[in-house]
Amino acid sequence: MDGLEGLEKVSHDEYDIIFTDIKMPRMGGLEFMQEVRKQNPMIPVVVITAYSYLETAISAMKQGAADFITKPFTFNDIRHILSKVIRERELIKSFAGNGNKDAVVETLNSELYKKLQEINTLFNFSIELDEIKENSSIFSRIVSMIARLLKVKRVALGLLEGGSIESRYTIGIAHIEKLPLKGSIYEDVIGSKTYIVLEVGQKNPFSGYPLDSEFLIIPLILNNEVLGFLSITDKTDGYKFADEEINLALTLTHKACLRLENNALYEITYNNLINTLKTLILTVEARDSYTKQHSERVTKLSLEIADEIGCAQAEKDAIRFAGYLHDIGKIGVRDIVLLKPGGLTDEEFEEIKKHPVIGDNIVSPLGLFPLERLLIRHHHERFDGHGYPDGLQGEDIPLIARILSVADTYDSMTTTRPYRKGVNHKTAIGEIKRCSSSQFDPVVVDAFMSTSTGRGGS
Ligand SMILES: [Fe+2]
Repeated sequence: MDGLEGLEKVSHDEYDIIFTDIKMPRMGGLEFMQEVRKQNPMIPVVVITAYSYLETAISAMKQGAADFITKPFTFNDIRHILSKVIRERELIKSFAGNGNKDAVVETLNSELYKKLQEINTLFNFSIELDEIKENSSIFSRIVSMIARLLKVKRVALGLLEGGSIESRYTIGIAHIEKLPLKGSIYEDVIGSKTYIVLEVGQKNPFSGYPLDSEFLIIPLILNNEVLGFLSITDKTDGYKFADEEINLALTLTHKACLRLENNALYEITYNNLINTLKTLILTVEARDSYTKQHSERVTKLSLEIADEIGCAQAEKDAIRFAGYLHDIGKIGVRDIVLLKPGGLTDEEFEEIKKHPVIGDNIVSPLGLFPLERLLIRHHHERFDGHGYPDGLQGEDIPLIARILSVADTYDSMTTTRPYRKGVNHKTAIGEIKRCSSSQFDPVVVDAFMSTSTGRGGS
């Protein structure tokens, strides 16, 4: 059904409430809602929208929608909205009966204001979540967000581990033992997959004592499975949880779970990508057996140097991933050149020199992070600016590329090839020291000397 058909129905029959999608053929949800309101402004219209279209939800509320619901939604969400809308209608009726129109307008305005605030919060939270990559950060963020928005002193996010619930992210709770799942109220929440509010006087699931304020439990649902729970209690204002507050907490939790699902998908895709690229590296190494395991050793040594320098985690992650791939561009170098024993002609060397750019071109369409690409592209730059492919100089060369350059050279020198025997550790170290400040960054060379490899420990 589309907007025009909906309008036709509204003009013939009576409806207590209308749910409409935003995107519909012929007449969209917003236009449909406006037309309905022209016919009968008292019918509440609830707009159905996707998280990515929260701006549309805001605009729909401003245009008079009674509420909005985000996809995907459950029967429980619908029930929640129905009860809220019915409550509002009752309110209007009771005021209308008293003839107090100003009070009606004031109440509706404050309801609308609250709703707009809620949408605004959700909208900001949604943007914030999209920027968080780590699951643990999503968990701690949702805990602090709920504590603030629901004005509660205690929140715990517990994850199901084996047969118990481990609270990993908490506010206002100093220490929680692992809670056994069996026989607890959480078992009911798993069964119903919906939230539950424990009343004052009921048993506190943590302490076992009678509750002196309400206790809200919301399940974290991922791929239709309960992954854990949010336990929320001790409202600072001493009141019960309002419907709006529960609704807000549910929507935030839902949004956070969607984000976790996306992360899981991303991780699977990312790992597949890494495996594919590692296979590519193996094909390069299989062609050029002398560099076998070279990438692995270079990555390991680069990480040791990065540790000495105190690189940021993001830089170490880039080395861990792209270190394996730094020579992936060699896949584009002909066998006759790549496998040539002995010296290369100038022309052949020019061909070899293309491998960082070929590598960059291989990984760039895969949406890799910029740091990884920089490492692959610039691992043959020289500190004095005489390297390739871009002739970058000094600190213009990304630090991780300056690091890998030292590790790469050390490993190449000490590896035996058919046309030359690898040099011993002492000679390699001497050569690296000699090239400090010309080929290599002296800071990186110093850091390399402090690693166990540099000290001759392995
Ligand atoms: Fe290389």
